[in-house]
Amino acid sequence: MNGTVKPIIEVLAGRRQRIPPVWLMRQAGRYLPEYWEVRRRVESFLDLCFTPRLAAEVTLQPIRRFGFDAAIVFSDILVVPHALGRPVSYEIGRSPQLDPVSDAAAVASLSQELDQNVLAPVYETVKQVKAQLPESVALLGFCGGPWTVATYMIAGRGTADQAPAREFAYRQPQEFGRLIDLLVEASVAYLARQFEAGVDAVQIFDTWAGVLSPDEFRRWCIAPTKRLVTELRRRVAHAKLIGFPRGAGASLVPYLKEVAVDAVGLDWMIDPEFAREEVQRRVPVQGNLDPIVLLAGGAALDRAVDTVLETFGGGPFIFNLGHGILPKTPIAHVEQMLRRVRGA
Ligand code: CP3
Repeated sequence: MNGTVKPIIEVLAGRRQRIPPVWLMRQAGRYLPEYWEVRRRVESFLDLCFTPRLAAEVTLQPIRRFGFDAAIVFSDILVVPHALGRPVSYEIGRSPQLDPVSDAAAVASLSQELDQNVLAPVYETVKQVKAQLPESVALLGFCGGPWTVATYMIAGRGTADQAPAREFAYRQPQEFGRLIDLLVEASVAYLARQFEAGVDAVQIFDTWAGVLSPDEFRRWCIAPTKRLVTELRRRVAHAKLIGFPRGAGASLVPYLKEVAVDAVGLDWMIDPEFAREEVQRRVPVQGNLDPIVLLAGGAALDRAVDTVLETFGGGPFIFNLGHGILPKTPIAHVEQMLRRVRGA
Protein backbone atom coordinates (compact mmCIF):
# COMPACT_ATOMS: atom_id res chain seq x y z
CA MET A 1 0.00 0.00 0.00
CA ASN A 2 1.17 3.51 -0.79
CA GLY A 3 -1.07 5.08 1.81
CA THR A 4 -3.68 7.70 1.08
CA VAL A 5 -4.05 9.10 -2.41
CA LYS A 6 -3.12 12.75 -2.95
CA PRO A 7 -5.69 14.29 -5.30
CA ILE A 8 -3.19 16.79 -6.72
CA ILE A 9 -0.79 14.03 -7.67
CA GLU A 10 -3.68 12.13 -9.27
CA VAL A 11 -4.42 15.14 -11.46
CA LEU A 12 -0.73 15.47 -12.38
CA ALA A 13 -0.95 11.86 -13.58
CA GLY A 14 -3.83 12.91 -15.85
CA ARG A 15 -6.68 11.58 -13.70
CA ARG A 16 -9.57 14.02 -13.37
CA GLN A 17 -11.01 14.33 -9.85
CA ARG A 18 -14.76 14.74 -9.36
CA ILE A 19 -14.10 17.69 -7.04
CA PRO A 20 -11.00 19.47 -8.28
CA PRO A 21 -8.19 19.74 -5.72
CA VAL A 22 -7.39 23.33 -4.78
CA TRP A 23 -4.51 25.42 -3.49
CA LEU A 24 -3.58 29.07 -4.01
CA MET A 25 -0.34 30.61 -5.17
CA ARG A 26 1.13 32.67 -2.28
CA GLN A 27 -1.34 30.99 0.07
CA ALA A 28 1.03 31.40 3.02
CA GLY A 29 1.40 35.08 3.67
CA ARG A 30 0.20 38.52 4.35
CA TYR A 31 -3.58 38.10 4.11
CA LEU A 32 -3.44 35.80 7.17
CA PRO A 33 -3.24 37.34 10.69
CA GLU A 34 -1.42 34.22 11.90
CA TYR A 35 1.28 34.88 9.27
CA TRP A 36 1.89 38.37 10.70
CA GLU A 37 2.10 36.92 14.18
CA VAL A 38 5.06 34.77 13.08
CA ARG A 39 6.53 37.40 10.74
CA ARG A 40 6.80 39.88 13.64
CA ARG A 41 9.02 37.45 15.54
CA VAL A 42 11.86 37.83 13.00
CA GLU A 43 13.59 40.87 11.66
CA SER A 44 13.54 40.10 7.98
CA PHE A 45 11.62 38.06 5.46
CA LEU A 46 14.79 36.08 4.66
CA ASP A 47 15.17 35.17 8.35
CA LEU A 48 11.70 33.67 8.10
CA CYS A 49 12.60 31.73 4.93
CA PHE A 50 15.81 30.43 6.55
CA THR A 51 14.41 29.47 9.98
CA PRO A 52 12.93 26.01 9.33
CA ARG A 53 10.71 25.86 12.41
CA LEU A 54 9.03 29.17 11.52
CA ALA A 55 8.98 28.57 7.76
CA ALA A 56 7.32 25.20 8.39
CA GLU A 57 4.79 26.86 10.66
CA VAL A 58 3.71 29.45 8.06
CA THR A 59 3.66 26.77 5.34
CA LEU A 60 1.15 24.80 7.43
CA GLN A 61 -1.06 27.75 8.45
CA PRO A 62 -3.22 27.83 5.29
CA ILE A 63 -3.59 24.03 5.40
CA ARG A 64 -4.95 24.17 8.94
CA ARG A 65 -7.25 27.09 8.22
CA PHE A 66 -8.63 26.08 4.80
CA GLY A 67 -7.77 22.42 4.27
CA PHE A 68 -6.09 23.08 0.91
CA ASP A 69 -4.97 20.04 -1.10
CA ALA A 70 -1.36 21.24 -1.34
CA ALA A 71 1.12 23.02 0.88
CA ILE A 72 3.85 25.05 -0.83
CA VAL A 73 7.11 25.37 1.02
CA PHE A 74 7.61 28.89 2.34
CA SER A 75 10.57 30.51 0.62
CA ASP A 76 11.11 32.81 -2.35
CA ILE A 77 12.37 32.50 -5.92
CA LEU A 78 15.18 34.98 -5.18
CA VAL A 79 16.94 32.74 -2.66
CA VAL A 80 18.67 31.27 -5.73
CA PRO A 81 20.57 34.46 -6.65
CA HIS A 82 21.20 34.87 -2.91
CA ALA A 83 22.95 31.47 -2.93
CA LEU A 84 24.87 32.51 -6.07
CA GLY A 85 26.51 35.37 -4.21
CA ARG A 86 24.04 38.16 -5.08
CA PRO A 87 22.47 38.94 -1.69
CA VAL A 88 18.81 39.92 -1.82
CA SER A 89 16.98 42.07 0.70
CA TYR A 90 13.27 42.60 1.28
CA GLU A 91 11.52 45.53 2.86
CA ILE A 92 7.83 45.33 3.61
CA GLY A 93 5.78 46.86 0.82
CA ARG A 94 8.71 47.22 -1.62
CA SER A 95 10.17 45.19 -4.44
CA PRO A 96 13.07 42.94 -3.37
CA GLN A 97 16.49 44.57 -3.91
CA LEU A 98 19.71 43.04 -5.26
CA ASP A 99 22.94 44.50 -6.66
CA PRO A 100 22.12 44.79 -10.36
CA VAL A 101 24.04 42.54 -12.75
CA SER A 102 24.52 45.41 -15.16
CA ASP A 103 27.24 44.20 -17.55
CA ALA A 104 29.23 41.25 -18.85
CA ALA A 105 31.81 41.65 -16.07
CA ALA A 106 29.06 41.27 -13.47
CA VAL A 107 27.83 38.09 -15.18
CA ALA A 108 31.40 36.73 -15.19
CA SER A 109 31.80 37.53 -11.48
CA LEU A 110 28.87 35.36 -10.34
CA SER A 111 29.67 32.22 -8.39
CA GLN A 112 29.51 29.33 -10.79
CA GLU A 113 27.88 27.07 -8.29
CA LEU A 114 24.99 27.31 -5.94
CA ASP A 115 26.05 27.47 -2.28
CA GLN A 116 23.88 24.66 -0.95
CA ASN A 117 24.75 25.60 2.63
CA VAL A 118 22.75 28.79 2.18
CA LEU A 119 19.73 26.79 1.02
CA ALA A 120 20.01 23.94 3.53
CA PRO A 121 17.33 25.53 5.77
CA VAL A 122 14.82 25.29 2.90
CA TYR A 123 15.41 21.53 2.65
CA GLU A 124 15.06 21.24 6.42
CA THR A 125 11.73 23.11 6.16
CA VAL A 126 10.56 20.56 3.59
CA LYS A 127 11.38 17.72 5.99
CA GLN A 128 9.61 19.36 8.92
CA VAL A 129 6.49 20.15 6.91
CA LYS A 130 6.41 16.67 5.43
CA ALA A 131 6.38 15.15 8.91
CA GLN A 132 3.35 17.20 9.93
CA LEU A 133 1.26 17.18 6.76
CA PRO A 134 -1.93 15.11 6.42
CA GLU A 135 -1.29 12.24 4.02
CA SER A 136 -3.73 13.40 1.37
CA VAL A 137 -2.08 16.83 1.10
CA ALA A 138 0.68 17.20 -1.48
CA LEU A 139 3.85 19.10 -0.63
CA LEU A 140 5.04 21.40 -3.40
CA GLY A 141 8.46 22.89 -3.88
CA PHE A 142 9.32 25.57 -6.41
CA CYS A 143 11.84 27.73 -8.17
CA GLY A 144 11.58 30.74 -10.44
CA GLY A 145 11.88 30.32 -14.19
CA PRO A 146 15.45 31.21 -15.26
CA TRP A 147 14.08 34.14 -17.29
CA THR A 148 12.10 35.59 -14.37
CA VAL A 149 14.97 35.22 -11.89
CA ALA A 150 17.31 36.84 -14.42
CA THR A 151 14.97 39.85 -14.78
CA TYR A 152 15.33 40.62 -11.06
CA MET A 153 19.10 40.04 -11.14
CA ILE A 154 19.65 42.37 -14.11
CA ALA A 155 17.48 45.22 -12.82
CA GLY A 156 18.31 44.64 -9.15
CA ARG A 157 14.57 44.89 -8.42
CA GLY A 158 11.18 44.32 -9.99
CA THR A 159 10.18 46.71 -12.78
CA ALA A 160 6.88 47.25 -14.58
CA ASP A 161 7.75 45.40 -17.78
CA GLN A 162 11.22 44.05 -17.05
CA ALA A 163 12.70 46.39 -19.69
CA PRO A 164 16.26 46.25 -18.24
CA ALA A 165 16.55 42.47 -18.76
CA ARG A 166 14.91 42.61 -22.17
CA GLU A 167 17.32 45.33 -23.27
CA PHE A 168 20.33 43.39 -21.89
CA ALA A 169 19.16 40.24 -23.72
CA TYR A 170 18.88 42.13 -27.05
CA ARG A 171 22.20 43.94 -26.67
CA GLN A 172 24.31 41.11 -25.24
CA PRO A 173 22.56 37.84 -25.94
CA GLN A 174 25.69 35.78 -25.27
CA GLU A 175 26.35 37.20 -21.85
CA PHE A 176 22.67 37.02 -21.04
CA GLY A 177 22.70 33.39 -22.19
CA ARG A 178 25.52 32.71 -19.73
CA LEU A 179 23.43 34.04 -16.89
CA ILE A 180 20.47 31.93 -18.03
CA ASP A 181 22.66 28.80 -18.28
CA LEU A 182 23.92 29.37 -14.75
CA LEU A 183 20.35 29.72 -13.50
CA VAL A 184 19.30 26.53 -15.28
CA GLU A 185 22.08 24.59 -13.54
CA ALA A 186 21.38 26.21 -10.18
CA SER A 187 17.64 25.53 -10.46
CA VAL A 188 18.21 21.87 -11.28
CA ALA A 189 20.48 21.53 -8.23
CA TYR A 190 17.95 23.36 -6.05
CA LEU A 191 14.92 21.35 -7.19
CA ALA A 192 16.76 18.02 -7.00
CA ARG A 193 17.52 18.72 -3.33
CA GLN A 194 13.88 19.67 -2.70
CA PHE A 195 12.79 16.29 -4.10
CA GLU A 196 15.42 14.52 -1.98
CA ALA A 197 14.01 16.28 1.08
CA GLY A 198 10.52 15.05 0.25
CA VAL A 199 8.45 17.36 -1.98
CA ASP A 200 5.87 15.58 -4.15
CA ALA A 201 6.01 18.02 -7.07
CA VAL A 202 7.50 21.40 -7.94
CA GLN A 203 6.24 24.48 -9.74
CA ILE A 204 8.41 26.64 -11.99
CA PHE A 205 7.18 30.23 -11.58
CA ASP A 206 8.00 32.10 -14.79
CA THR A 207 6.03 35.14 -13.72
CA TRP A 208 7.48 37.46 -16.39
CA ALA A 209 7.26 35.11 -19.39
CA GLY A 210 4.46 37.25 -20.84
CA VAL A 211 6.63 40.32 -21.57
CA LEU A 212 8.70 38.42 -24.16
CA SER A 213 8.05 38.56 -27.91
CA PRO A 214 7.32 35.11 -29.41
CA ASP A 215 10.93 34.70 -30.64
CA GLU A 216 12.40 35.82 -27.34
CA PHE A 217 9.93 33.58 -25.53
CA ARG A 218 11.33 30.57 -27.39
CA ARG A 219 14.87 31.58 -26.59
CA TRP A 220 14.59 32.70 -22.97
CA CYS A 221 11.58 30.82 -21.63
CA ILE A 222 11.04 27.62 -23.64
CA ALA A 223 14.65 26.60 -24.32
CA PRO A 224 16.00 27.10 -20.78
CA THR A 225 12.93 25.55 -19.15
CA LYS A 226 13.25 22.57 -21.46
CA ARG A 227 16.87 22.07 -20.40
CA LEU A 228 15.93 22.51 -16.75
CA VAL A 229 13.16 19.91 -16.96
CA THR A 230 15.19 17.41 -19.00
CA GLU A 231 18.16 17.62 -16.64
CA LEU A 232 15.98 17.43 -13.53
CA ARG A 233 14.19 14.34 -14.87
CA ARG A 234 17.57 12.75 -15.54
CA ARG A 235 18.53 13.37 -11.90
CA VAL A 236 15.14 12.67 -10.29
CA ALA A 237 13.24 10.03 -12.24
CA HIS A 238 9.99 10.51 -10.32
CA ALA A 239 10.00 14.33 -10.58
CA LYS A 240 6.57 15.89 -11.12
CA LEU A 241 6.48 19.41 -12.49
CA ILE A 242 3.98 22.22 -12.99
CA GLY A 243 5.07 24.90 -15.46
CA PHE A 244 3.74 28.44 -14.99
CA PRO A 245 4.82 30.68 -17.85
CA ARG A 246 2.48 33.50 -16.84
CA GLY A 247 1.09 35.53 -19.71
CA ALA A 248 2.32 33.11 -22.39
CA GLY A 249 -1.03 33.06 -24.21
CA ALA A 250 -0.79 31.36 -27.61
CA SER A 251 2.91 30.60 -26.95
CA LEU A 252 1.71 27.89 -24.55
CA VAL A 253 1.36 25.59 -27.55
CA PRO A 254 5.06 25.65 -28.53
CA TYR A 255 5.93 25.62 -24.79
CA LEU A 256 4.02 22.37 -24.28
CA LYS A 257 5.45 20.80 -27.43
CA GLU A 258 8.97 21.34 -26.06
CA VAL A 259 8.76 21.24 -22.28
CA ALA A 260 7.75 17.97 -20.63
CA VAL A 261 5.77 19.35 -17.70
CA ASP A 262 3.03 17.30 -15.99
CA ALA A 263 0.68 20.28 -15.82
CA VAL A 264 0.59 23.93 -16.69
CA GLY A 265 -0.64 26.92 -14.67
CA LEU A 266 -2.89 29.38 -16.51
CA ASP A 267 -3.41 33.07 -15.83
CA TRP A 268 -6.89 34.64 -15.98
CA MET A 269 -6.30 36.54 -19.23
CA ILE A 270 -6.18 33.47 -21.45
CA ASP A 271 -9.09 32.75 -23.79
CA PRO A 272 -11.10 29.95 -22.14
CA GLU A 273 -11.90 28.05 -25.32
CA PHE A 274 -8.28 28.18 -26.46
CA ALA A 275 -7.16 27.06 -23.00
CA ARG A 276 -9.50 24.08 -22.98
CA GLU A 277 -9.03 22.98 -26.59
CA GLU A 278 -5.36 23.73 -27.16
CA VAL A 279 -3.89 23.45 -23.67
CA GLN A 280 -5.97 21.13 -21.47
CA ARG A 281 -6.21 18.64 -24.33
CA ARG A 282 -2.44 18.27 -24.13
CA VAL A 283 -1.83 18.42 -20.39
CA PRO A 284 -3.65 18.86 -17.04
CA VAL A 285 -4.21 22.52 -16.18
CA GLN A 286 -4.14 24.61 -13.02
CA GLY A 287 -5.77 27.99 -12.45
CA ASN A 288 -7.07 30.51 -13.22
CA LEU A 289 -9.33 32.69 -11.08
CA ASP A 290 -8.51 36.40 -11.27
CA PRO A 291 -6.93 37.38 -7.89
CA ILE A 292 -8.85 40.67 -8.13
CA VAL A 293 -12.23 38.92 -8.19
CA LEU A 294 -11.21 37.01 -5.07
CA LEU A 295 -10.41 40.36 -3.49
CA ALA A 296 -13.73 41.84 -4.68
CA GLY A 297 -15.96 38.96 -3.56
CA GLY A 298 -19.74 39.00 -3.83
CA ALA A 299 -21.78 37.70 -6.74
CA ALA A 300 -18.91 38.42 -9.15
CA LEU A 301 -16.76 35.92 -7.25
CA ASP A 302 -19.41 33.20 -7.45
CA ARG A 303 -19.83 33.77 -11.17
CA ALA A 304 -16.09 33.75 -11.83
CA VAL A 305 -15.60 30.52 -9.84
CA ASP A 306 -18.43 28.90 -11.82
CA THR A 307 -16.89 29.97 -15.12
CA VAL A 308 -13.53 28.44 -14.19
CA LEU A 309 -15.22 25.20 -13.12
CA GLU A 310 -17.35 25.05 -16.26
CA THR A 311 -14.36 25.71 -18.49
CA PHE A 312 -11.93 23.18 -17.02
CA GLY A 313 -13.95 20.87 -14.75
CA GLY A 314 -14.50 18.28 -17.47
CA GLY A 315 -10.82 17.33 -17.61
CA PRO A 316 -7.81 16.94 -15.31
CA PHE A 317 -7.78 20.19 -13.37
CA ILE A 318 -6.37 21.82 -10.21
CA PHE A 319 -8.29 24.87 -9.00
CA ASN A 320 -6.04 27.86 -8.25
CA LEU A 321 -5.69 31.56 -8.93
CA GLY A 322 -4.20 32.94 -12.12
CA HIS A 323 -1.45 34.55 -9.99
CA GLY A 324 -0.70 35.00 -6.28
CA ILE A 325 -3.34 35.92 -3.71
CA LEU A 326 -3.27 39.64 -2.86
CA PRO A 327 -2.40 40.73 0.70
CA LYS A 328 -5.72 42.61 1.16
CA THR A 329 -7.90 39.61 0.27
CA PRO A 330 -10.56 38.97 2.96
CA ILE A 331 -10.44 35.50 4.48
CA ALA A 332 -14.23 35.26 4.08
CA HIS A 333 -13.79 35.45 0.31
CA VAL A 334 -11.39 32.51 0.33
CA GLU A 335 -13.98 30.56 2.34
CA GLN A 336 -16.74 31.55 -0.10
CA MET A 337 -14.59 30.38 -3.02
CA LEU A 338 -13.82 27.04 -1.34
CA ARG A 339 -17.49 26.32 -0.61
CA ARG A 340 -18.32 26.99 -4.25
CA VAL A 341 -15.49 24.77 -5.58
CA ARG A 342 -16.22 21.92 -3.20
CA GLY A 343 -19.99 22.22 -3.47
CA ALA A 344 -20.37 22.49 0.31
O1 CP3 B 1 3.13 30.52 -2.44
C1 CP3 B 1 3.53 30.52 -1.26
O2 CP3 B 1 2.74 30.65 -0.30
C2 CP3 B 1 4.98 30.22 -0.98
C3 CP3 B 1 5.83 31.35 -0.84
C4 CP3 B 1 6.25 32.22 -2.01
C5 CP3 B 1 6.72 33.56 -1.80
N1 CP3 B 1 7.18 34.04 -2.99
C6 CP3 B 1 6.70 34.24 -0.51
C7 CP3 B 1 6.85 35.72 -0.44
C8 CP3 B 1 6.39 31.97 -3.38
C9 CP3 B 1 5.98 30.72 -4.17
C10 CP3 B 1 6.98 33.11 -3.99
C11 CP3 B 1 7.31 33.21 -5.42
C12 CP3 B 1 7.79 34.48 -5.97
N2 CP3 B 1 8.59 35.42 -5.37
C13 CP3 B 1 7.54 34.90 -7.30
C14 CP3 B 1 6.77 34.13 -8.34
C15 CP3 B 1 5.31 34.22 -8.16
C16 CP3 B 1 4.75 35.60 -8.24
O3 CP3 B 1 4.06 35.97 -7.28
O4 CP3 B 1 4.93 36.26 -9.24
C17 CP3 B 1 8.18 36.15 -7.47
C18 CP3 B 1 8.18 37.01 -8.72
C19 CP3 B 1 8.85 36.45 -6.24
C20 CP3 B 1 9.72 37.61 -5.95
C21 CP3 B 1 9.18 38.43 -4.84
N3 CP3 B 1 9.19 38.06 -3.51
C22 CP3 B 1 8.61 39.72 -4.93
C23 CP3 B 1 8.41 40.49 -6.22
C24 CP3 B 1 8.29 40.12 -3.62
C25 CP3 B 1 7.79 41.47 -3.17
C26 CP3 B 1 6.46 41.79 -3.69
C27 CP3 B 1 5.44 41.00 -2.95
O5 CP3 B 1 4.65 40.31 -3.59
O6 CP3 B 1 5.48 41.12 -1.73
C28 CP3 B 1 8.61 39.03 -2.75
C29 CP3 B 1 8.42 38.97 -1.28
C30 CP3 B 1 7.62 37.81 -0.76
N4 CP3 B 1 7.71 36.52 -1.18
C31 CP3 B 1 6.66 37.88 0.29
C32 CP3 B 1 6.19 36.57 0.50
C33 CP3 B 1 5.20 36.11 1.53
C34 CP3 B 1 6.31 39.14 1.08
C35 CP3 B 1 7.39 39.34 2.11
C36 CP3 B 1 6.89 39.96 3.39
O7 CP3 B 1 6.50 39.20 4.30
O8 CP3 B 1 6.94 41.18 3.47
